[in-house]
Parts: sequence; structure tokens; C-alpha cells
Amino acid sequence: MSARARYADPDLPLVRVAICGSVDSGKSTLLGRLVLDADLVFDDERPREGNLDLAMLADGLEAETEQGITIDVAYRHFATEQRTYLFADAPGHLQYTRNMATAASLATVAIVVVDAVVGITEQTGRHLAVCAAMGVRTIIVAINKVDEIGFDVDAVATLERAVAERALRLGLAAPVTIPIAARDGDNVTQRSSRTPWHVGPTLVEALDAAPTDSDEQQAAALRFPVRIILRPDNGERWIAGTIASGSLSVGQEIGIVGRPLRHGGLAVHEIQTARGPVPTASADTAVRIRLDGHLDVSSGDVICDPTDVEQGLARGARARLVWFHDLPLDTGKRYVVRAGTRWMFARVTRVERVLDLASLEPITATTVAANDIADVELDFAQAIPLDTFAEHRETGSFILVDAATGETVAAGMVAAVVPAVRNAIREEGAIGRDQRAQRHGHRGAVAWFTGLSGAGKSTITRQVEAQLHDRGYNVFVLAGDNLRLGLCGDLGFSPEDRSENLRRAAEVARLMLDAGLIVLCEFISPMEIDRREARRIVGDADFLEIFVHATVEECIARDPKGLYRRAIAGEIPDFTGISSPYEPPVNADLSLATGEVSIDSCADAVVRLILDHAQPLRVQAPASSRISSPR
Ligand code: ADX
Repeated sequence: MSARARYADPDLPLVRVAICGSVDSGKSTLLGRLVLDADLVFDDERPREGNLDLAMLADGLEAETEQGITIDVAYRHFATEQRTYLFADAPGHLQYTRNMATAASLATVAIVVVDAVVGITEQTGRHLAVCAAMGVRTIIVAINKVDEIGFDVDAVATLERAVAERALRLGLAAPVTIPIAARDGDNVTQRSSRTPWHVGPTLVEALDAAPTDSDEQQAAALRFPVRIILRPDNGERWIAGTIASGSLSVGQEIGIVGRPLRHGGLAVHEIQTARGPVPTASADTAVRIRLDGHLDVSSGDVICDPTDVEQGLARGARARLVWFHDLPLDTGKRYVVRAGTRWMFARVTRVERVLDLASLEPITATTVAANDIADVELDFAQAIPLDTFAEHRETGSFILVDAATGETVAAGMVAAVVPAVRNAIREEGAIGRDQRAQRHGHRGAVAWFTGLSGAGKSTITRQVEAQLHDRGYNVFVLAGDNLRLGLCGDLGFSPEDRSENLRRAAEVARLMLDAGLIVLCEFISPMEIDRREARRIVGDADFLEIFVHATVEECIARDPKGLYRRAIAGEIPDFTGISSPYEPPVNADLSLATGEVSIDSCADAVVRLILDHAQPLRVQAPASSRISSPR
């Protein structure tokens, strides 16, 4: 099979490799050499005459950017008989650590290229430290340009020792070191006759021998972070996501991390991948699954084995971070931690140590600046599913995001979790949702109205409430202003207090949903992450997000409560739209522009959406009943 055909073979395992090297170490030449030797050079990339410039070949290959923390990392493909490889090449200039950490966070193997002439530099130390911090399993050190030091065995041995010593300080096993001359190809794919003293593998042999992530992920216990709940029209309910570790099979019992079970788990009824239904699926596979009963699961939850449900919920963690941002870490600030599919507010409560990149020794420190590698303690606003990196790579790593700007400020690995103890088991009650739906003639739902004060939320919910009530539905409005008079009377309008306000609101809405009601929630709920959390608490499947949109100018002009006037005069601090931000929803089920569309049309659209969801059940009303069943 040709190299290119192999590359396209989906049955060969894919190994992600990060390649690091300082500017003149010959990293690009090495990449060009690998591609050339593997016969992956396309004819139009070959010069008509003369030699191929390997470095240009590598640099000229397509660069690709991804969302999230991936910026400016170029990917190149390579294949051997056994495996296909995806090389992530972080360019050596701007925001270098950030790019390298991005590449390393996705990689199982890293190649650190060292210039034999220059020797081990602080940059080499940084490369090793970032790879270690990002949990790269196998590090291969390629000592390049050995031709330029006359294939000197002693010089190579000295470099090897220096590398091993640095690795040891970082808590890494001694890396495989390989003397190469990338330009000529010595010890890259072909064993070199010019280094008869080298008894170790060639670079490609070392790559092929590196354990892959999937071996390990397969062996670990099941973790399946839920990305989304899909409800096709046929009434089925599918849980979609990518299996982070372990495997899933039809018939297998599962539970949810942090949710103790009373009667064992539920069994998997059906599994589908992009290729269709499968009896079993393993780590790294994107799947959707259907269960043989109703499990109260939302995006952000992690599905696990029933034996694991009481573990894996963390209210804090000790972690090693690579700090990317130009602004230093701020221990007073609220960040957003994103672990798997879960987002939560977090604070860094303590900086323990920062790695000194010259000595590679951790030193006691309290500040963390750009490119630092630090050990810190984190505290989460609410418990989240989280593992240690040693046990679960995927669910044991996270990124930290600036809550205000959305920029990624750090990537980290969990060293230890502070477990959250949840001994409460949700009481099922004698009557289930289905029975209530039968009695009420409709299912419950939570319609969550978000928008600026004065955008028209309460005007719309009042109309919707009246319409639904008149048509025989059990409906109730949960309004921010009312909750703030009682249950949330202790809370103000700081970002923290708003989060807590909305968490309580979502919990109340959830109980009302359990009681079978259609709940109309109207809260400014200015932050996407808070709405996301509300959706999780209520349950994806029953949560409808409705964006009531009006510009700040329109709201100021309306100013029904006179609050904008006072906020502009500086009398009300943290006023949404004036002195506190509003993030418009990204995935609203319905958007209503109240400046453009009449309130009647808005209310009609909401009623239609809710009725679509609440699925009126055809109940046989007793003949004597004067109350008509919902239509
Ligand atoms: S939320 O941000 O936490 O979702 P919520 O919807 O409960 O807010 O309360 C908003 C209502 O509180 C507004 O309609 C307004 O009447 C009142 N309010 C008082 N102070 C503020 C403020 N600083 N920002 C926004 N609304 C405020």
C-alpha cells in the first residue's frame, strides 16, 4: 500500500505528535525529511531540477487553525506501515509557549529537536517543561546536525546526560535520544552507517514504538462527557458526545458522575457512530447513545460506570498550569474553568510554586506571569466532574478562560481533586413525570427568557401565561424581581450574586418542572455560562431559551421602572447594559426583537414553541367536565 493510501486508511491508529525546537534547530528540515522519506511529497512540490529544500517543503504545507486554544499551529501528516501521524508544529515566534502548549496538550508524543552544535539551552528546558506540564506521555529528543559535530559519540553522550538530568528534575522518565542529521536523513527513517555507535532506534522506529493514547484510554474506566441531548421528532432521546476513556457497549449499565444511584444504572439500548449503529464503541469515538429508560442527564454531565457514580465530583483541585496570558494570574478574579463539556466559575485560591525555567526547579512564588508553569489550587463555584490527569487524561485536564473576554488564559492538568461529597439521592416520589403529564394533559417545560431590563420579558411572559392558562395549561411565571424579594433577597447584582440568583432560580424551575408545570422564567441572566448552568440544572431536553432582544437605546427610551435613568446618573451600580455586560445567547431556541415585532406576534411565537414542546396529550376528558382539555 502506498504511503498516501495508508494515510487515508481509517483503521490505522492515528498518533498526535508535537514537534518542538528553537528557530535554527532544524525542526522544519526534519519535518520535510519525514514527509519526503515517507513518499508523501506530491509531484508538484518536487522541483524540476536540483535538490528539494526540505525546510521549505515543511513550511509550505498547509496551516490550519482551530477554535478554542488552538491558534497558529500548523499540522502535517505522516504515515508509516503501522500508524498515521499528525504533527502539530508550533511556530517559534509570537505567543510561542501558548502555541506549544496547545500542540502538546493534544499530543501523545513530543519530539524535542536539539541543535548538537548549540547544545542544550533554556529553550530546550522550556520545551521539556511544557511537554511535562501538558502530560505528553513519550518524549523523544532528536539531537540534530550530528554531522556538524563530526558524529562525535562523546559529545552526543554528554548532551544525552544533560537531557536526562533535566527530565529527571521535571519528574519525567529519561527520554529516548536519537542522534540525527535531518538534512541527509541519518537515523530518521534509515539507520545511519555514520553513527555505528548508536544502538537505539531510528526516529521513526521510536515513533512507532511509543504507546498510543488510545491503548491507555481504552484501559481506563468509562468517562463519556455529554455534549448535547438530541430529541428527534420520533420522540427518541439521544445522548451525544465523544467517549473520553473506556468503552461503551449495548446492554452495558451506566450512571452519572456525582449522582448516587438507588437501583443500579440504566442500560445502553443503542449506540450509533458516524458509520451507523455499532455494538460497542471505544475511547475517542464520537457517538450518540440511547438508553433503555429515562436518565436525568444534561450536557456537561459525565456518564460513567455505575460503580463510579459516587466519585469524580470535585469542588476544587490542585493543578499544574501553563499560563499563557500577558496579564498575570489574579487570585481575586473569577475565571471560567472548562473541563470536558462542563463550564464553571473558578478561582485560583493559592499559587504554590512556579517552575524556574533556568534550573527547572519549582520555587515558592505568589505571582504567575505569561509563559510560567505553576502549581496552584483552584476552587469551583459549584462541584464539577473532574478526574486526576494520571487516571483520565481527557477528564483530568482543563483550560481556564477569562470570564469577561473569553480568552484562554491557561491550560492545566489536575494533580489532585478536592472531592465534593454528595450523599443525597434524588427521591423519585410515587408519581413520575409521565403520570403528571397524563393528569395535566401536557408535559412540563421551562422557558427561560433572557434579555436586558426593559427588553420586554415580562410583557411577553404575561401574555404567554394568560394564553396558556386560558387554553387549559398549568403555567407559572418565575420572575427575577419576585425571587429577589424572598428566596434571593440576600443577593445583589455582582457577577457572583447573579450566578447564585440564577442557580437558585434554575433549581426552583426544575422542581416546578417536576411538578408538571410549564414554567416561564424571566431573568436578565446576562452571562452565557450562567444560562448554560441553568440549562444543565433543568435538563437540556426540557429547557427552552428565549432571547428577548432590544437595544440598550430602546430600553433606555422605554425605561419602564425608571432604573436606566438612575443607573446612568450613577445611582445604581452594576446595572446591566450600562455598567455591567450582557452576553447575547449563542444558541437561543427563539429570538424576539421587540423593537421590530409586535408583542402579540412575539407571544404567539413563544406559545407555538412551548406547545410544540409540551406535547399536549390526548386525554379523554370526562363528559361532565366543564374544563376543556388543552388543545
Ligand atoms: S439577573 O441578572 O440576576 O438575572 P434578575 O433578572 O434577577 O437579574 O433581576 C433583574 C431586575 O432587578 C431588573 O428587572 C431590575 O428591576 C432590578 N435591578 C436592580 N438593580 C439592577 C442592576 N444593577 N442590574 C440589573 N437589574 C437590576
